[in-house]
Amino acid sequence: MNVRKLIKMKGKEPITMVTAYDYFSAKLCERAQIDVILVGDSLGNVVLGYDTTLKVDMEDMIRHISAVKRGAPNSFIVGDMPFMSYQASDEDGLKNAGRLMRAGANAIKLEGGRRVAPLISKLVDVGIPVMGHIGFTPQSVNQIGGYRVQGKEEDAYRMIEEAKMLEDSGVFSIVLELTVEETAKEITESISIPTIGIGAGRYCDGQVLVWHDLLGVNDEHVPKFVKKYADLSSEIERALKLYISDVKNRTFPEEKHSFRRHEK
Ligand code: KIV
Repeated sequence: MNVRKLIKMKGKEPITMVTAYDYFSAKLCERAQIDVILVGDSLGNVVLGYDTTLKVDMEDMIRHISAVKRGAPNSFIVGDMPFMSYQASDEDGLKNAGRLMRAGANAIKLEGGRRVAPLISKLVDVGIPVMGHIGFTPQSVNQIGGYRVQGKEEDAYRMIEEAKMLEDSGVFSIVLELTVEETAKEITESISIPTIGIGAGRYCDGQVLVWHDLLGVNDEHVPKFVKKYADLSSEIERALKLYISDVKNRTFPEEKHSFRRHEK
C-alpha cells in the first residue's frame, strides 16, 4: 500500500484502517491484510490507561511506531503526532514528524483544520505524507467541552470548508471522527481524496476502529459507533482463570511441558 494506491481506492473500494500499538497486533494486521495501520495517540487511553490523549508524548509514539513497524514491516503505517508536538510552531511540527518517519511511519496524522494547513503544506513539501483529522479532535477535548458529535447544522459548512482546505494543503486522506452522517457524506462528495470515518456513518471512503474496541478487549464504555467483532476480554479472563486453576491444582505444568535431565 502507498499514498497513491489509497487515493485511487476512493469510489472503488472501501479502505480499512485499524489502530495497533505493538509487535503482535501489528503482525496480525499485516496477516489479515488491513489497508492501513494507525498507531494512534489513542494508545494513551487503551494502552497506558490515561483519561485523555493529552498525556501521550513523542517518546511514547516513537516506541510504539517502532514496535508496529517490526511487526508489520510491509504495511502502510500512519503515526499520530501527539499533543503539543506540532501546535507551538511549524518548526516543531517538521522536526517531530521527521522523528516519527524515522521510527517507521509511512505517513503522519495530525488534528485540525485551518490552523494546521500551513504546516501540512510544509510537511508535504519535504516529502512527508499527511493524513488530516477533523470533526471531533480528541486533543482539543477541553476546548470542545467533551466528547460531542460534530458537523451539526451551522458547523457542517465549516467542516466542509476545512476538509477542502486540508485537501488544498496536500493531505492524502482525512479522518472524520464523531461526525453527523449527512455532513460526512457531503465532505466525502466534495473532495477527491478519501475520507476515513470513525463514528461518521456509512458514506465515508473508509472506516477506522480502535483495536481494543473492535476486538472487545475494551470491556468499559463502548461508544455507539463501535461494532465488536470479538469478545476478547471474556476470552482472556476465561483463559487466565483456567491457568490459575491449573497451577493451584498442580495440573500445569505436565510432563510434556517439562525438561528432563537425559532429554535430547
Ligand atoms: O488515535 C486514534 O486512534 C485516532 C482514531 C480515533 C482515528 O486518531
